[in-house]
Amino acid sequence: MIILGISALYHDSACAVLVDGHVVSAAQEERFSRRRFDQAMPTRAVRACLRDAGVRISDVDHVAYYERPERKLARQLWMGLPALPETSPAALFRLDADRPFRQIEELLGFTGPVTAVGHHEAHAASAFYQSGFRTSALFTADAVGEWTTTSYGRGGPDGVELLEEVAFPHSLGLFYSAVTSYLGFAVNSDEYKVMGLAPYGSPRYAERLARLVQDEDGGQFRLDLGYFDFSGHGPMFTDRLADLLEGPARDPESEITQFHTDVAASLQEVLEAILLRKLRHLHRETGDSCLSYAGGVALNCVANRRIREEGPFEQVFVQPAAGDSGGAIGAAAMVHHSLTGEFEPRRLTDVKLGPRGDTGRTRGWLRRAGVPYSDFTGDEAGLLDRTAALLADGAVVGWYQGRMEFGPRALGARSILADPRDAQMRDRINALVKKREAFRPFAPAVVEERCEEFFELAEPSPFMLDTTTVRRGADLPAITHVDGSARVQTVNSAQDARFHGLLSAFGRRTGFPILLNTSFNMRGEPIVAGPVDALVCFVRSDLDVLVLGDHLVLREDIPGHWAERLEELLPYRRPPISRDVYSFL
Ligand SMILES: [Fe+2]
Repeated sequence: MIILGISALYHDSACAVLVDGHVVSAAQEERFSRRRFDQAMPTRAVRACLRDAGVRISDVDHVAYYERPERKLARQLWMGLPALPETSPAALFRLDADRPFRQIEELLGFTGPVTAVGHHEAHAASAFYQSGFRTSALFTADAVGEWTTTSYGRGGPDGVELLEEVAFPHSLGLFYSAVTSYLGFAVNSDEYKVMGLAPYGSPRYAERLARLVQDEDGGQFRLDLGYFDFSGHGPMFTDRLADLLEGPARDPESEITQFHTDVAASLQEVLEAILLRKLRHLHRETGDSCLSYAGGVALNCVANRRIREEGPFEQVFVQPAAGDSGGAIGAAAMVHHSLTGEFEPRRLTDVKLGPRGDTGRTRGWLRRAGVPYSDFTGDEAGLLDRTAALLADGAVVGWYQGRMEFGPRALGARSILADPRDAQMRDRINALVKKREAFRPFAPAVVEERCEEFFELAEPSPFMLDTTTVRRGADLPAITHVDGSARVQTVNSAQDARFHGLLSAFGRRTGFPILLNTSFNMRGEPIVAGPVDALVCFVRSDLDVLVLGDHLVLREDIPGHWAERLEELLPYRRPPISRDVYSFL
């Protein structure tokens, strides 16, 4: 039974191929189109994943679509046709509930059966069917999907059942996005920056912000709509928010002051408090000790830590592609279950589910272009030792290995790696490639078996979805946040033998089997997908070393004029995100 799951035409388009219930391939369209958060029908990702899975579109038994378009259209009409991102009347085609089905046939060439599942059901299923739990409480929270913003449910051998939903416009995701916008950051994109800013502040405004989210019976809550504008026509907040906080909205390019960090800390506090209250309700309702959790809000790893430490559930599984891309996996898993009735609890342990790309071809191009490289084919120990030596010497390394990660995080397949002991490293990487705000922390990857020596982490954290306290923060300044925390990724050799080997080799040299690990991309661009993307990013970014599979290239061996030519060839592409308006389309 081959099922193709599709998430498209809203935020972060993606696809997933399930064979007999197993996810064998999954990827986001943005990686291939090189357009960040690409919303288009994921034609490129589908082509790549089918090839990766060794099947053709004609072999697919069923397509599962991650939301019910007519429900979304009803909400859009109720909102009074939100502002269209383009001014042309052609933009009206977005308000067409048949479009996904037409495009599945016309663009993907699939003429078999298509089943659409609810948006939050897809989120819930994406977590439950990858959690490994036999039964579980289910929780989803995002900005909005169709009419729903939050849902509570139960999963088990009979499937996924939602018990209660909170309806638009009362939304934790939109609440967080609105204050993100007030703080001068892009909505549906930069919420994680606000989370990173929060530890610099104190939650002085938490009481005031808490007034905007009124707790109600059961799973319900209400936003005070006097403070928000979710019409999609302008800023997401009204003047009353500035009055309440006694400060104007921050201009995006202006300085970040203590006031802004205090608002960020307050927002984070209010979000965490309401999540904890609602999860206690869910726990009482279901009586289950396990929680499966997804939706964009589940990417808030600071809140996830509190859910794990203070929440009512003994075990918590957060689906790593918690945003809309993960809906592709959830929809496919739901349809698989409903068609076959099969249920076999299995825990997702690795998100390297995307295509691997052919590094052999790049080697040929390098050779023909006369660029020297070291070839470690058949000598993995040599590759790891050389790379670890360069890292310990201060090199910033672009690391491209094997299958691409699914979801928002680079976890050692498409990563930029560096020495976490160097206090200057954060600024250096920002200057080289990231060009991002200095306050944002970088995350560490650590070998799982020695994790507890360096981090207060009771269980493995393979997906970087949780923060924890760094035990030896003074030794690890490049990955330790201002509050002594880090968003840690644990790596074991079964998940990724080569990355584990590199961390171990670095540990043998330095005593710290830990590397700073950030995504392999230029600012504002998607993470690299294929080896050519990696080479292009390497050339444009001034990284010191590129490791492409078994091959190692040094910056000094790249001809100087390459970077200039590439800049001419690749004009910066703006992501389809507006700074202050949530895209409701
Ligand atoms: Fe969603």
